[in-house]
Amino acid sequence: MFDNSKARRFRSQDWFDNPDHIDMTALYLERFMNYGITPDELRSGRPIIGIAQSGSDISPCNRIHLELAKRVRDGIRDAGGIAMEFPLHPIFENCRRPTAAIDRNLAYMGLIEILHAYPIDAVVLTTGCDKTTPAQIMAASTVDIPAIVLSGGPMLDGWMDGELVGSGAAIWKGRRQLAAGDIDEEKFLQIAAASAPSAGHCNTMGTASTMNALAEALGMSLTGCSAIPAPYRERGQIAYETGRRIVEMAYQDIRPSSILTRDAFLDAIVVNAAIGGSTNAQPHIMAMARHAHVELHSDDWMAHGHDIPLILNMQPAGKFLGERFHRAGGVPAIMWELLQAGKLRADRLTVTGKTMQDNLDGRQTNDREVIYPYAAPLKQQAGFMVLKGNLFDFAIMKTSVISPAFRERYLSKAGQENIFECRAVVFDGSGDYHARINDPSLNIDEDSILVIRGAGPVGWPGSAEVVNMQPPDALLKRGILNLPTLGDGRQSGTSDSPSILNASPESAVGGGLAYIRTGDTIRINLNTGRCDMLITPEALESRKAEGIPAYPASQTPWQEIYRSTVGQLETGACMELAVPYIGIGNTLPRH
Ligand code: FES
Ligand code: MG
Repeated sequence: MFDNSKARRFRSQDWFDNPDHIDMTALYLERFMNYGITPDELRSGRPIIGIAQSGSDISPCNRIHLELAKRVRDGIRDAGGIAMEFPLHPIFENCRRPTAAIDRNLAYMGLIEILHAYPIDAVVLTTGCDKTTPAQIMAASTVDIPAIVLSGGPMLDGWMDGELVGSGAAIWKGRRQLAAGDIDEEKFLQIAAASAPSAGHCNTMGTASTMNALAEALGMSLTGCSAIPAPYRERGQIAYETGRRIVEMAYQDIRPSSILTRDAFLDAIVVNAAIGGSTNAQPHIMAMARHAHVELHSDDWMAHGHDIPLILNMQPAGKFLGERFHRAGGVPAIMWELLQAGKLRADRLTVTGKTMQDNLDGRQTNDREVIYPYAAPLKQQAGFMVLKGNLFDFAIMKTSVISPAFRERYLSKAGQENIFECRAVVFDGSGDYHARINDPSLNIDEDSILVIRGAGPVGWPGSAEVVNMQPPDALLKRGILNLPTLGDGRQSGTSDSPSILNASPESAVGGGLAYIRTGDTIRINLNTGRCDMLITPEALESRKAEGIPAYPASQTPWQEIYRSTVGQLETGACMELAVPYIGIGNTLPRH
């Protein structure tokens, strides 16, 4: 067992063992006894370890944590701590309307209140589905008590008709086949079911696998934790080890502020490129960095990420799914390649108590079908391209998922100059898109770019994964599976759509997208990173006089609060009023 002879006084003792407030102690203690815990346990001076439980019946991606928490508790108890499990506000990517994004900040706010206001000395963050990871890491920084991430792990690989079918990716492909008349609805449902064969989160390198990988890359989870599939025995074992380790961290007082440094975030940007990670990593990394009070700028994506090659062969950028990735060595094997190539800043502390460099020792892959050498990658320059222009100050494009056919159609057309022009077809929100996409009068063809607005943090509200718009059925039937798209929303991390995303500022706050009209020409210059609508200054002024497009009213109180303080995707879509708060676990709440 960890040597805790030099035990420090934990913050929970202010509740349970405080000579100045003897009158309050009985009140704080008595109700915990009604499930059998004794006052002596709570007054023993041992750390109280919170388990932020993200699993529930309406968070099916994270439901494995209801089981894993038992092993976490075993580890906590064996290492000398006392576990207290409590719920996190649920976040379920696929089902939460109008978007799960609005819950990232709600879960973040809720977790801060729990960690600050209850007798908790350290916390296990149980992560899985997309936003459950950044929400909890953001809160861990704001409170800054010792914290460790336990991923729930991806589902087993999905199979259909002898082929791998990955979650999310199978849906995007299936709905194109459905629209083209190649499959019927029943087959579509069969494919969807096949892509989700077990407990766990998405088995593709979508946002869930990406964010868990990045939590590990940041140094917030045990080495190798993120990729272990949910049903594997190793998942239960690492849950136990995570429980043990957080008790040691409590005694060592290792806090997020000593782990989440600028170097850690730059490494996360590098790893995200190398794994072909989700475009949602951009706002989430920015939000985690800002809540850790780490300087990270939009330019860091180009400066540190863009030239990093894709070395992981996993859907949607590649071929395989989570089981194969785990067997190939998972995130440590990716980081091992990057370390050898001199691309990491790995001499930095992690939750193991050792440096990232030490954690990666001996972690090279033995499966070159899945993890490629840095010098001979799947694709060069896999990081996000950052764009700007008169439509927005900031947007990103994920070039690693662009198909050869798409490159052929657009980039070769652009010629050596890498400049291409498209005719804009503009939709105000996804309702408008669905209502009109098959309207022949829009004249959508191969030279069109589909534009959506009203999909950002304020406009939606929450920012929706709607930019990966499918072309009209008539084009799909002709084999045109993708058109360029652009918008102030996001796109699913499992999508292979060549989109210009996360445009900031959004239309709803007066960004340039508010003033584009169907029929305008958009010029994209990949050499200079510019994206502009070609209109005269006079035309722009007269459109500005018409005002910004309307967006839906708030339907709940939270939506209104969220809208009143949320920032743009460029800077993480944070609750701006929350950003100044950091380290609040160091001050005790009033009695
Ligand atoms: Fe929850 Fe993908 S929908 S992990
Ligand atoms: Mg998603």
